[in-house]
Amino acid sequence: MTAEYNRLIRYMIKHVDGYLPPVDWKPSKLMKKIIIPIEKFPQAPFMGVIIGPRGVNHKRLQDTTGCKIFIRGRDIGDKWQTDEEAAMPQHVHIEGETEAAQPDFGISGRWGRDFCLCSRKMPCRLAVVGAGPLVGSTHCDSPLAFCQPSRQELVCICQRRADDTHLADSLGVPLYTDAKEMARQEELDGVIIAVPTHMHLAIAKACVEGARLAKRPSGLRAFLIEKPICQDLASATELLSLTDKAGITVLVGHQRRHSRLVQKARELVTDRHFGPLRGVNMEFSLLKPDSYFCKEDPALEWRRKKGIGGPILINTIHDLDLMRYITGHEIVSVFATISSAARGEEVEDSGAVAVTFDHGAVGTLFFTDAAPSPWSYEFTTGENKKYPPVPGAATRDCYHFAGAQRSLGFPSLQSFGYGDTERGWDAPLIVEGASAGA
Ligand SMILES: NC(=O)c1ccc[n+]([C@@H]2O[C@H](COP(=O)([O-])OP(=O)(O)OC[C@H]3O[C@@H](n4cnc5c(N)ncnc54)[C@H](O)[C@@H]3O)[C@@H](O)[C@H]2O)c1
Repeated sequence: MTAEYNRLIRYMIKHVDGYLPPVDWKPSKLMKKIIIPIEKFPQAPFMGVIIGPRGVNHKRLQDTTGCKIFIRGRDIGDKWQTDEEAAMPQHVHIEGETEAAQPDFGISGRWGRDFCLCSRKMPCRLAVVGAGPLVGSTHCDSPLAFCQPSRQELVCICQRRADDTHLADSLGVPLYTDAKEMARQEELDGVIIAVPTHMHLAIAKACVEGARLAKRPSGLRAFLIEKPICQDLASATELLSLTDKAGITVLVGHQRRHSRLVQKARELVTDRHFGPLRGVNMEFSLLKPDSYFCKEDPALEWRRKKGIGGPILINTIHDLDLMRYITGHEIVSVFATISSAARGEEVEDSGAVAVTFDHGAVGTLFFTDAAPSPWSYEFTTGENKKYPPVPGAATRDCYHFAGAQRSLGFPSLQSFGYGDTERGWDAPLIVEGASAGA
């Protein structure tokens, strides 16, 4: 009641010319309560996320907005909360002096640690470490291209060499050459790590350490790390233990999972009218130009180094990820043979992989980066405009999924099965899907 009375007076002051509030009226603090959706997401560690490591998120929100922020409600030991508040579900209580401070907050996110209490006054501060021409420079554009600029900003980039100023200059952001120093100086919310794979762990460590040493403790809480997460299992495990301790969420750059074609294929292959899955056949065949290996540039040597570069770690990691993602099954055993006969480098250029899935189905992946061919995700989907279109009208598939009831080609999304007649090779196959009539 009092709150409504105050709201009306504030409204009149603002909108009615010459209006004077009652003489005994004193402007009271503005309040907002945001219920924490604990019941809907019982696993999400809301308290930790709202408060942040050593209270940094809470402190930054208060400093930037000028509001006082409390967590109150049932089972919260806040001696200042009223009985009414103590009986409410757990909520964030926000008190501000002005109208402007108020409607600005929300709890956003989707699951687990992704939740955060945020204010539009506080854009998410991002940095890119490793802004190479192939992938890192694209990440530099993405905060500007895909998000509302007021919600995200590219604060700085970090490169290996101090004279590599071109991108930083064109984007008008500071350039660092030391990720630890960068994280110490800038108050970062997230870092995109796009350095060569074998350096992902070292850069992640440097960012965590730098954020820890910052004068004002930083709220670093997210890494987008390019795929593969690391070059081997031990480094990946170490990295995840480090980020877990530091309260940092990690997203690995398997962007193909978000493709419309992949989403549709997953829907079809996991449908009850498809399976059980009998097997999968995948191919990644294309020709990498000599310039990709650029032997004169020692910085690109990693692409030819065994256990660091090569098509298994750089390319087929995507195909193997989709093998699991589209089928919804885990791989339980792997047999592989590789060859470096095409280029004679220490790293493989071709190979064949055979896998068994957890329910007994099998899969194969043939790959080579040394043959002119259209049979790869890159060339058949045409999603990445870096690759020129393949001539010829026919849609080509790079993956085949075989289920007990149907089979599916990808990316054509053409499926094959039998109708109500007796099923088997004497009956005509019925073709359905995107280009069935072609
Ligand atoms: N998601 C995808 O589709 C995709 C595509 C290509 C590459 N990648 C991955 O991206 C990563 C980078 O690959 P790339 O081909 O762009 O590499 P690259 O060698 O072309 O570029 C790496 C960049 O990192 C910088 N760098 C190196 N050491 C650094 C350091 N210590 N501090 C700061 N910057 C440093 C270099 O200056 C360079 O700009 C790899 O993990 C790769 O697997 C992902």
